[in-house]
Amino acid sequence: MKILIVYMSYHHMNTEKIARAMAEVTGATLSKADEVDPGDLAGYDLIGFGSGIYGGKHHTSILALADEMPPMEKPVFLFSTSGGYKEEFHTPLRRKVITKGCTIINEFHCPGEATFLKFIRVNKGRPDEQDLENARIFAKGLLAAPGAEKQE
Ligand SMILES: Cc1cc2nc3c(=O)[nH]c(=O)nc-3n(C[C@H](O)[C@H](O)[C@H](O)COP(=O)(O)O)c2cc1C
Repeated sequence: MKILIVYMSYHHMNTEKIARAMAEVTGATLSKADEVDPGDLAGYDLIGFGSGIYGGKHHTSILALADEMPPMEKPVFLFSTSGGYKEEFHTPLRRKVITKGCTIINEFHCPGEATFLKFIRVNKGRPDEQDLENARIFAKGLLAAPGAEKQE
């Protein structure tokens, strides 16, 4: 199964750590959102989209990619890291991929260290080793998820 994980991470590189852990156990190709050609997504059997949460939603480059990709009936998964957590953080991205015809087979979230106003620090040290292990377990589970089997 050809898996692509597209991510954007810049604040503390938290989401990149999660994306790498997921790629480690699945053999997925890792690409940054702004380096991916939206037309190339069709060549994969399963696609993951993830970033930190900024202003209550995924990074604009991930949302733009979901807007620009061609319609495709693909299994996808969503992930994020953030200072707090609200189920609605994934809603804008959810809507976009569903509009394109994709099926969300699972979603993953993990607390991520955040620094606000230079000195206010939350979730220090996250993602930690347990978070990375949770990401690996989540990613292995994707391979067995209904809908994730190789598309012919
Ligand atoms: C500009 C900015 C906006 C943020 N907005 C939110 C937010 O709305 N909700 C939240 O829970 N965390 C928010 N955070 C915290 C990040 O989501 C968190 O630190 C995340 O792990 C960053 O991911 P990254 O290191 O992969 O970029 C924000 C951080 C920054 C820098």
